Amino acid sequence: MNGDGKLTASDAREILILSVTNEKQKRAVTSKADINGDGVIGALDARAVLRISIGLSYEGRLKGYTEKGYPVYEKDGLTFIDGVLIANKTYSLPEDYAPDGLLSECENAFSLMKKDAAAKGLSIYISSGYRSYSYQENLYNRYVRRDGKALADTYSARPGHSEHQTGLAIDLNTVTRSFGNTKEGKWVAAHCHEYGFIIRYPEGKSHITGYSYEPWHLRYVGVETAKRITESGLCLEEYYGITSVYS
Ligand code: DAL
Ligand code: ZN
Repeated sequence: MNGDGKLTASDAREILILSVTNEKQKRAVTSKADINGDGVIGALDARAVLRISIGLSYEGRLKGYTEKGYPVYEKDGLTFIDGVLIANKTYSLPEDYAPDGLLSECENAFSLMKKDAAAKGLSIYISSGYRSYSYQENLYNRYVRRDGKALADTYSARPGHSEHQTGLAIDLNTVTRSFGNTKEGKWVAAHCHEYGFIIRYPEGKSHITGYSYEPWHLRYVGVETAKRITESGLCLEEYYGITSVYS
C-alpha cells in the first residue's frame, strides 16, 4: 500500500482511512481515538472503526470473554457476541429497547424461506414475531397465574429476557411440539440455517438453553453464523460458551 514492499500495520491503517467516508469517523481514525471508551487506544478501536466502515454494527465496549474465548461487547445495555445480539436468562434487554417490529434482515430472510417452502408445497407462517417488553410482561404473568412461576420459566421468558423483543425471533405455525413432526417442521429444521435462522431451543438442550424444546421458535443470526452453529450440533449457549440462568 505505502510501497515499502511489506504489508504492515501502517498499510492496514491507510486502508482503514480510505475505507472510512464519514468525516467524524475519519477524524477518529486519523487521530487514533478511543472509540469504544475503554481508556486505551488499541486494536479494539481499530476493529470498531473497521466494522463501521464496512457497514457492520459497532458492538460497543468490551466486557470480557466467554468460556470459549469469544469477546463479549456491551452497547446501550445490549450484549453482543460475535455480532449476535444475545437475549436469554443471563443476558437481558433494556425495557426501552423497542424496534418497530421485526428487523428487516429477519423479515427478508423469512420471506425467502417462505417462498422456497411454498415451492415445495409447504406452508409456513409467522404466528408470533416481535413482542415488546410490556407485551411479554403480560404474557409471562398470564402463564405464571396459570401454571406457577417454576413451570412458566421453562417455556416463557420473563420480560426483558425474550428473544422476541430483539425483533430477530419468530414463532412458526402452530407453536406446538408436534410442529416438529410435520412436513413443514422437518423442512424448517433441515433448511432454516440456509436463510440465517437457528432452532434456538433444540431438543435435549433444555438444561443449557433454560427452555423446553421449541421446534417452532427460530432466531435470525445471519447465514454464516447459522451454518456454523447448526453444523456444530451445539445450541447457541454451548457454541459461544455462555450460560442461560436468571440471577
Ligand atoms: N418462549 C420463549 C422462550 C419466549 O418466551 O421468548
Ligand atoms: Zn418464540
